[in-house]
Amino acid sequence: MDIWHIRGGRRLEGACPVQGSKNASLPILAAAILAPLRCELHNVPRLRDVDAALRILRCLGCLAEQRENDVYIDSTTLSGCSIPHSLMEEMRSSVIFMGALLARCGEARLSLPGGCQLGKRPIDLHLAALRQLGAEIEEDGTDICCRAARLKGAEIALPFPSVGATENAMLAACAAKGTTTIRGAAKEPEIQALQAFLSRAGAGIGGAGSDTIRIEGFDSAARCVCRIIPDRIVASTLACAAAATGGDVSLCGIDPRHFSALLYFLNKAGCDIISSNRSVRIRSRGRLRAAGEIVTEPYPGFPTDAQPVLMAAMLQAEGETRIRETIFENRFRQVPELRRLGADIAVCGQTAEIRGVDRLHGAALTATDLRGGAAMIVAGLAACGDTVICDDGHVSRGYESFDRCLCALGADICFDHGI
Ligand code: EPZ
Repeated sequence: MDIWHIRGGRRLEGACPVQGSKNASLPILAAAILAPLRCELHNVPRLRDVDAALRILRCLGCLAEQRENDVYIDSTTLSGCSIPHSLMEEMRSSVIFMGALLARCGEARLSLPGGCQLGKRPIDLHLAALRQLGAEIEEDGTDICCRAARLKGAEIALPFPSVGATENAMLAACAAKGTTTIRGAAKEPEIQALQAFLSRAGAGIGGAGSDTIRIEGFDSAARCVCRIIPDRIVASTLACAAAATGGDVSLCGIDPRHFSALLYFLNKAGCDIISSNRSVRIRSRGRLRAAGEIVTEPYPGFPTDAQPVLMAAMLQAEGETRIRETIFENRFRQVPELRRLGADIAVCGQTAEIRGVDRLHGAALTATDLRGGAAMIVAGLAACGDTVICDDGHVSRGYESFDRCLCALGADICFDHGI
């Protein structure tokens, strides 16, 4: 069990770089097996989920190692197409190996993926897209077996812009004969980052960032070097921590457009947002105002992953904030824990109403999931007194050395790993 000790009430101040993106790294790690490739990835965060992806690569026979924030993969030695359940259940992104294995081996044997418990997280859209590319898929409870003697280009129309289904379809389509068009594709920056990697690795691919992606085959390069983009959700968390503590923080190396939906609401809540090309300064001017109505949506709308941390920043804002969650059915799991700090939150169905209180007080909390745990840290930083968060490894799935990053900004926080 990890334990976070926070002495709240200190204003965050200063500048800090933003770590590389977890959700950009994971599909790129899967993409490294598309063809016999030697890959060098820079700015990869050191996280539990990244470690799980590296263990999957090794289990498939690849050489894969992380040194600080650099990852080296040699997939020329790939020797298998099965991933055991114990590795699949470690994270959601393990499912992206399905498209990559199918492309490389014509076969993938795996099981349903794990990940945060945010409600039902089916993979029907992934499977439908792969079937359209010519895969035959058998499902037997938790086990999945996909085969395709020859993948063929297809017109895929996603009924919802699922991030994971878009990624799986992009990877499998690289090995397909003929052109594939994915309509209704997810537009997240992580999809654009995957396209950039694939194109360096030899794919003929374009359109990521719009709702139509076109893939026209793959002429594999032998070597591929890539730098992972900064993490927009970690940036959002730090921005919310700055806002909640009346702070003044500059986030360096991040493209402000990647989290402009969050910055819009922090500005509405009374923070100054000073953006340049590659950095953003968030300056809070005392007590925040309620941010109004927030609805989570696929990118470029307000991201579900930033919802819990913005909720945490609104707990002491003047007035009422309403958040409607439309992406996951169970993403208010942080609410009962935040109430222990004195928060006034009412949940009705998929809507949470947050009435700002004058003061939060420290308490003992239990992290419920990755972003819920991050929200508890933000709230603990803004509360008076001591907060202790018991965390079954959730936060370290997505945040690298988060305690050190917050300490450098003036927080009084201490992290005990694996007690
Ligand atoms: C990605 O998950 C992210 N994970 C999530 O981040 C993020 O919350 C989510 O996208 C939405 O932005 C990674 O990139 C590793 P989806 P993913 O497929 O791909 C439904 C975090 O905290 N759906 O876009 O799993 C699904 O149930 C994590 O870092 C289907 O119905 O998200 C959900 O309601 C958590 N059938 C919605 O679509 C499918 O086949 C969005 O899922 C696939 C999805």
